[in-house]
Amino acid sequence: MTSRVIPVAPFTLTVFGATGDLARRKLIPALFHRDLDGQIPDDATIIGVSRRALSDDQFRAFARQALSDHIPASELEGPEVERFLARLSYVAADADADGGWPELAQRVEAFPEHIPVYYLATAPHLFGPICERLGKYGLSRNGRVVIEKPIGKDLKSAVALNEQVGRIFPEDRVYRIDHYLGKETVQNLMALRFANALFEPLWNNAHIDHVQITVAEALGVEERAGYYDTAGAMRDMVQNHILQLLCLVAMEPPASLDADAVRDEKLKVLRALKPIDDQNMAAVTVRGQYRAGASAGGAVAGYLDELGSSTSSTETFVAVKAEVENWRWAGVPFYLRTGKRLASRVSEIVVGFKPVPHSVFDANVGPIESNRLVIRLQPDEGVKLWLMIKDPGPGGIRLTHVPLDMSFAKAFKVRNPDAYERLILDVVRGNQTLFMRRDEVEAAWKWVDPILQAWRSAKEPPRPYTAGTWGPSAAIALIERDGRTWLEDGA
Ligand code: BG6
Repeated sequence: MTSRVIPVAPFTLTVFGATGDLARRKLIPALFHRDLDGQIPDDATIIGVSRRALSDDQFRAFARQALSDHIPASELEGPEVERFLARLSYVAADADADGGWPELAQRVEAFPEHIPVYYLATAPHLFGPICERLGKYGLSRNGRVVIEKPIGKDLKSAVALNEQVGRIFPEDRVYRIDHYLGKETVQNLMALRFANALFEPLWNNAHIDHVQITVAEALGVEERAGYYDTAGAMRDMVQNHILQLLCLVAMEPPASLDADAVRDEKLKVLRALKPIDDQNMAAVTVRGQYRAGASAGGAVAGYLDELGSSTSSTETFVAVKAEVENWRWAGVPFYLRTGKRLASRVSEIVVGFKPVPHSVFDANVGPIESNRLVIRLQPDEGVKLWLMIKDPGPGGIRLTHVPLDMSFAKAFKVRNPDAYERLILDVVRGNQTLFMRRDEVEAAWKWVDPILQAWRSAKEPPRPYTAGTWGPSAAIALIERDGRTWLEDGA
C-alpha cells in the first residue's frame, strides 16, 4: 500500500526550546520522517532557538544525534539525512532579553513567501514572553504559533496564559497541541463513527450500556518527577488527552470536518459533563499513588522514592465515573482511568453495548455476552468488534464470544506515523481540526477544577497501589458497584 502525499506549502519553522527533550525525542524525528516521505517542500527551513550558544553546525550535530537515538539505523542510510540537516540553522536567543532576536527576524524574513510557524517547545511560563518578543520584532504578523500542555494548572492560570498568547496571535493562528488527537487510531474513531452507517444509529443510550476509556502506562514518572509532582494524573492526562477522547466518542456528528464544526461539537460535550464536587467526589473518583512493585519482570521503586521525598499527595492514578448530561448519553456512564506503573501499557476505548432484550436460546448454550467495540490506541493499534457466534461443531448450539479483529499493522503493513508528524504539517496546512480551541481548554478546566478542589478539601492521601497492578482496589470497586467490570487487553 502506498501512502498518498498531500503537499504542503514552503514554510519556515522556528522551534523554541530546540535543544530540549520534546525537540530531541519528538519534533526532530517527526520532521525527518516527513522529509523522508517527501512531504517537506525543497526550500522549507527549520530554525532552532534556545539560550545555549551553538553554531549552526553544532545544532546539526545535536539533531543528527537525536535522529540516531530515535530512528532505526536502516532509515538513516540514504542521502535524506544530509538533505534534512541542511535545512537546519540555529539562533541563540532568550525569551527575556533582546539578544539574538534581530538575527532571528532577519532569518525568518529572508523567506517572505514562506509560512512562518513558531513552535514553543519550552516551559509554559515562557509562552507569554516569547509571544511578546515575536510581536515586538514583527514576526507575529502572519505567523502561526504552536503551544502544548500544560496550558495552565487550573482555569484561572489557563485563561491568563491564553490571554497572553491571544494579545499577539489571533485564535485562528494559535495551535494548541494535544498529541492524542494526532494518533492514528484516534482519527480512526472519527472514521469509524462517521464513514460507516453501521454504528451511528446505535450510538446512544438506547443501545450503549457504558463506555470505558483507559490510558495505562507501565512506566513510572522517572526523571520527570519534579514536573509531575506539581501536576498529577488529573492535570497531566485527564484534563487533556482523556477528555479529548471522551469528546470524540460522545460528540454529535459535526456538519463537516471543518475545525470549528468539530470543535463546536466537542465543546458541547465538555459543557454537558455532570459536575463533580465535594458532594459526589467520593462516590465517583478514586486517586492512587504507586508503591514499589514489579514491572517488566524487574523490581521497581515507588513514586516517593523516584521523587526523592518522604511525602507527596500527588496522584499517579485516577479513575472517574463521568456522565454526559444530554439526550444522547443520559444514564450512560463513561468510566475513565489512567495511571503510571500499571500492569501494562495499553490505551483503549471500550464501547459496551446493551444485552439482547430476550434470549431465544436454552440456558445451557452459555451466557450471551454483550457486544463490545474496542478501539485500541496503543500498542498494536486496531479495532475489535466482539460478537456472539455459534461455537463450531456438531452437538447442538453452544454460543461463544469472539472478536472481529482488525490489527492495523497486519492490515496495512505501513509504518504508523507518530502523532507529531501529522500535527506539525497540519499547522503548515492551516488545519486546526486536531488542535484544541481556547474555549475547549477552558471548559475542560471548568470541569476539572472542582474535582481538584474537592480532593484538596477532603485532605485524603491518594490510595496506595503496588507498581505493576491495575491501580487501587477502590478503582475496581468504583465500576463493580455498578455491576460492570474494567476490560483490559482488548477483552
Ligand atoms: C504526556 C504526559 O502528555 O503523555 C505523559 O505528560 C505521558 O505523562 C504521555 O506519559 C503519554 O503519551 P503516549 O503518546 O506515550 O501515550
